[in-house]
Amino acid sequence: KVIIIDYGSQVTQLIARRVREAGVYSEIHSCVTTAAQVADMHPSALILSGGPASVGEADAPALDPGFLELGVPVLGICYGMQLLAQNMGGRLAQSLTREYGPAELTLSAPCPLWDGLDAKSPSRVWMSHGDKVLAPPPGFAVTGRTPTLDVAAMADEQRRIYAVQFHPEVYHSVDGEHILQNFLFKVAGITPDWTMSSFVERVVKEMAEQVGDKHVVCALSGGIDSTVVAVLLNRAIGKRLHCIFVDNGLLRLNEGDEVVNYLREHFDLNLEFVQAQERFLSRLKGVEDPEKKRKIIGHTFIEIFDEEAKKLPQVDFLAQGTLYPDVIESVSHKGPSAVIKSHHNVGGLPDTMKLKLIEPLRELFKDEVRKVAAELGMPDSIVWRHPFPGPGLAIRVLGEITEERLSILRLADKIVQEELRESGWYRKVWQGFAVLLPLKTVGVMGDGRTYEHVIALRVVDSVDAMTADWARLPPDLIARMSGRIINEVKGVNRVVYDVSSKPPSTIEWE
Ligand code: XMP
Repeated sequence: KVIIIDYGSQVTQLIARRVREAGVYSEIHSCVTTAAQVADMHPSALILSGGPASVGEADAPALDPGFLELGVPVLGICYGMQLLAQNMGGRLAQSLTREYGPAELTLSAPCPLWDGLDAKSPSRVWMSHGDKVLAPPPGFAVTGRTPTLDVAAMADEQRRIYAVQFHPEVYHSVDGEHILQNFLFKVAGITPDWTMSSFVERVVKEMAEQVGDKHVVCALSGGIDSTVVAVLLNRAIGKRLHCIFVDNGLLRLNEGDEVVNYLREHFDLNLEFVQAQERFLSRLKGVEDPEKKRKIIGHTFIEIFDEEAKKLPQVDFLAQGTLYPDVIESVSHKGPSAVIKSHHNVGGLPDTMKLKLIEPLRELFKDEVRKVAAELGMPDSIVWRHPFPGPGLAIRVLGEITEERLSILRLADKIVQEELRESGWYRKVWQGFAVLLPLKTVGVMGDGRTYEHVIALRVVDSVDAMTADWARLPPDLIARMSGRIINEVKGVNRVVYDVSSKPPSTIEWE
């Protein structure tokens, strides 16, 4: 495995993903991890990430010199390169201005990282740094430069320490993936063995051992994460897995039936389909405040889950679809904070349930979960399903929720989903859906004046939902959605397209 030491860069997770895409398992650890701890992880190579700090300033994260004595190759990226230079006797210059964006890298000396690259023509790389290395430490050769950097890359082949000022992990670095693979395969001599089929085999075996002859309960949401968790556990322990799917009346059109039927038909799961529409909707009656809605939905869900779990045989474990990004410790520029993001899917189950957690997807990124789902034979409609929030349509019917508003939104949303799928845009965007606004506007239809609801279309690009931008859908596609919604959905006479990014807006409207 490859260990990535995180100095706080926004793109550290991309390093881990690129390494894994090359078939090599990687883990991210915070920059206060010691060399002794890393040694216990038996890595095959070490990568030092970028970070926002300036080497040498107060509180800047430091390099544990022991990292260089582990006997494994080291690659420093950006801040990682500056740390290496500073610790090993190179010369650095601080700068007040940042270089941000593309640059042309000239390969100025042979280096195993450049294997297979064309030394005669520059390679487009992506930069994001303030400080720079003026002179490499003794023992290092300068292996690359750009018009603004005399030392854009350096290498000590004897000690197998390599460093680049640019970010090979971002897609804008054209040869970035190739360079990372050269580090993994040519320098570190790693044999790629991280595949989703080996993951499935291992995790199924581990869960079978962990659970023994006990029982596990799992809340299904219809999303890909909990579905994959259930199918993996089903392989591991069969009918001792008890799945609970709650229809809260806030699902999309036919969603509950589709998911439940699919799972029952294909996987022979022990699955309780709880019809609780009435309980949720009656409690939400007259409630307009988004936070209140969320709280009511959360509490009601837990109440029902608790009731259902009590009907089961003695259950010892709760399975959850926690993913790797939820587990990575967040590192602030002053060092790691102890805060670990909590997962909000089944958050807040009563302590009295005293369940031990099983989280088989803890090691995986979202794109890897999709690969596992495909490996398990799930259809594209599940593998590529957009995220859907726990509170469901409750936070997409703005203001008060009524049956009538829910059914208007369901029909409009169905059209959005159909049009995205048919045009091929469904897989290109992160999320796309309709929102019902709690106001009416004037329109004209035939000879008559209308006074009806507004539907907003929200379609966004994102990689992790932390930031997002509105998707530049072709105008014709938006026109088709709008035309169909106004013609086919009674009660709507106007459609608008949301052109806000996150931040400062959010993806959902409530
Ligand atoms: P926002 O609106 O915060 O959404 O930009 C970011 C992502 O999270 C989803 N989302 C939720 N998911 N429970 C969930 O399970 C929630 O309460 C919730 N609120 C937002 C949203 O759909 C988007 O993918």
